[in-house]
Amino acid sequence: MSLEQWTAVDGYIADHLIPADPTLEAALAASVVAGLPTINVTPQQGKFLYLLARIQGARNILEIGTLAGYSTLWLARALPDDGRLVTLELEPKHAAVARENFERAGLASRIELRVGPAMETLGDLVAQHRGPFDLIFIDADKMSMPEYFQWAMKLSRKGTVIIADNVVRNGAVVDATSVDESVRGVRRLMDFLSTEPRVTATALQTVGNKGYDGFCLAVVNA
Ligand code: SAH
Ligand code: DHB
Ligand code: MG
Repeated sequence: MSLEQWTAVDGYIADHLIPADPTLEAALAASVVAGLPTINVTPQQGKFLYLLARIQGARNILEIGTLAGYSTLWLARALPDDGRLVTLELEPKHAAVARENFERAGLASRIELRVGPAMETLGDLVAQHRGPFDLIFIDADKMSMPEYFQWAMKLSRKGTVIIADNVVRNGAVVDATSVDESVRGVRRLMDFLSTEPRVTATALQTVGNKGYDGFCLAVVNA
């Protein structure tokens, strides 16, 4: 099995299930023009997030890690007209590109972008009683994943869905001796989840044109 084959199948899936979408394509193009890293979710993954938000009936969504707002747009589209999404981003340059993408998509009124280290902006959200959120997508720096997950739980209710991206890292997650801070972050998250009775979780490996990685999916029990 090769990246070439995964990419071909992603193309096949996209041809059948993901219609051409000028708004989303413009968002990605703006990201490339601005020189941002191309580490956004794939269209297939974005639509998966959109479907999860719809299945959940989400009216309040939180995202940690905006980049150019590509995953944000998929999630925001799943909201009802009076729904709201808060997205957190460290880099002002990324935030500026994302804001333009939200305006162009006509979704800026539903999206609140907060700039700063997520560890601080998450604390602000808790202090401002901005929860509970119905769905939370964790996709910022990987070394802080367990800390973000614990903040997410503070901003949750019974039934909140929490998704974390990039939990397989090309298989490196099984390397207990890894010195890669991202891998260690994922492993600390998995250790935390293995003993945390307040959430029920699984993780799914994924392949596609973005390579080999995975999602963690959890629901808050209490
Ligand atoms: N969710 C996006 C991709 C996010 S990439 C998508 O799929 O389209 C990860 C983002 O997290 C980057 O923009 C990076 O700047 C941001 N990030 C990194 N460290 C962060 C931190 N400490 N707080 C908030 N955002 C952070
Ligand atoms: C990286 C970050 C992501 O969110 C992702 O989906 C892929 C890669 C990274 O920082 O390398
Ligand atoms: Mg990611």
